[in-house]
Amino acid sequence: PILDDNQPFTVAIVGGGIAGLSLALRLPETMRVALLTKGQLGESNTRYAQGGLAVALAQDDSPQFHFQDTMAAGAGLCDADAVRILVEHGPEAARWLMEQGVQFDRAQAGSEAHVTPDGFLLGREGAHSRWRVLHAGGDATGYEIERALMMAVRARSSITIFEKAFVEDLVLEGGKCVGVRASDRDGQTLTLRAEATVLASGGAGGLWLHTSNPSGATADGLALAWRAGAALVDLEFMQIHPTVLVANGTSHLISEAVRGEGAYLRNHAGERFMPRYSVQEELAPRDVVARAIRREMLLEETDCQYLDLRHLPAEKMHARFPTISAFCRENGLNLARDLLPIAPAAHYCMGGVMVDTHGRTSVPALYAVGEVSCTGVHGANRLGSNSLLEGLVYGLRVADTLAAQDEQRASVPWSSLRTSSIFKTPAMVSDMDVQSLSAMKEMSFAQIRGKLRQLMWEYVSLARSHDGLCTVQKRVRELQTLLTRRREDEMNRSWHETRNMLQVAELVIVAALERRESRGSHWRLDYQTTDENLEYRHFAWQRQQIDV
Ligand code: SIN
Repeated sequence: PILDDNQPFTVAIVGGGIAGLSLALRLPETMRVALLTKGQLGESNTRYAQGGLAVALAQDDSPQFHFQDTMAAGAGLCDADAVRILVEHGPEAARWLMEQGVQFDRAQAGSEAHVTPDGFLLGREGAHSRWRVLHAGGDATGYEIERALMMAVRARSSITIFEKAFVEDLVLEGGKCVGVRASDRDGQTLTLRAEATVLASGGAGGLWLHTSNPSGATADGLALAWRAGAALVDLEFMQIHPTVLVANGTSHLISEAVRGEGAYLRNHAGERFMPRYSVQEELAPRDVVARAIRREMLLEETDCQYLDLRHLPAEKMHARFPTISAFCRENGLNLARDLLPIAPAAHYCMGGVMVDTHGRTSVPALYAVGEVSCTGVHGANRLGSNSLLEGLVYGLRVADTLAAQDEQRASVPWSSLRTSSIFKTPAMVSDMDVQSLSAMKEMSFAQIRGKLRQLMWEYVSLARSHDGLCTVQKRVRELQTLLTRRREDEMNRSWHETRNMLQVAELVIVAALERRESRGSHWRLDYQTTDENLEYRHFAWQRQQIDV
């Protein structure tokens, strides 16, 4: 059914993390807003964010220092205008968040060294030159932000929430986005028309075997935008977080803020190895730390390294990181007394739907914000705790643009952009091994996803090469073919998610093949240096309209 066809929503928002919720709340109450989430509201990547919100609030800090740190970590690919907006609007956006009821941690009667002039505690993360990370509940920052914003959204009568509504495709008319087609909690089709549609649907960590992301991070928004013909950019840059606890087959994030408080990384020989890799030691940018851990694992032929907090005050560490402490305990480990087995895992998608600094994509009336988008603030390597900040600052900014009814088309943000349209869907399978296809044809959707995640981890994570990428490309196309052969009545939500994952995986692989250099999170074994004379700094990908 088409709901209220005569009276479309003003804005349809897909996703309920910090970006979607901030945007929804900032829009004037005179606008009719639809908010769609594929799970329960609150079940998003934001909820699991530990570190916090990076904002230049300390006496010795300034947006200019935050700008310099962000640009340096981004390895030459950040968009300076987008970063400036991020850091300069950070302080007022943090205040807005507090007005919505978010309770950041405060110092107890001047007992802490790193506080803002008005008493908020600050944490430290890798490659930040200052203590600048606001946090809540110690290491439960995302949870607190979701709690407060969800409560405010639920209280707003102008916002209609559609939970367990899975968006299968964007609806286009004359090349313009006019809403979404979703399946509701009962599997019924739900078509919502809207004057503007905003993708705020998060990332793609679920494409990799090892990830810090919840299982819902299946790249849906990227795939929706791709099928609608929007340009995607910088997809080769997937941030791998250095430290995920790997006890008992789990993969639970251990915040970089733990190293910010002074924790060491040690190999199996007990050596604190980071000083051999960087003068910034454990607080080097994430790409550097993650690769150092990989190298130590290869040298020692092990599948983990260790995080060591044993030299730090135990009581303070348990109080500062209660979530991580509890998770360690559940796995038989004491955060402050035991060596914690860690390994790198896929964490954050730095590329995404190409947008300008108002969230406008290359498709009229389609916007994107937060992890699904690429504003250019993260470049080739994101600074910790800049992602919640981006979702917040740009969520508010896109709302203000929509409120001003500014419907201009996106202006392409980068002058040195190359647009390619080599993709066709369904994938070409001419070079496919028919034997292996028939052997695989009984695979369930879960098995296809499991296979994909293994392949992506093996060939498209911390170290990539032409041969490996070609191998995985061929395998992904085989998996795509399996999926397209399913009967229509088998095309349930799991089928759609699996299709999204395979489509985006192929895009990531082709982007990684195209970038013949190493930079930030993208490390090519066959091109180990950074090319300072690149003809094109960014690769953007757009589907051939003929396929739509
Ligand atoms: C962390 O706490 O280490 C993750 C925070 C982030 O990725 O921004």
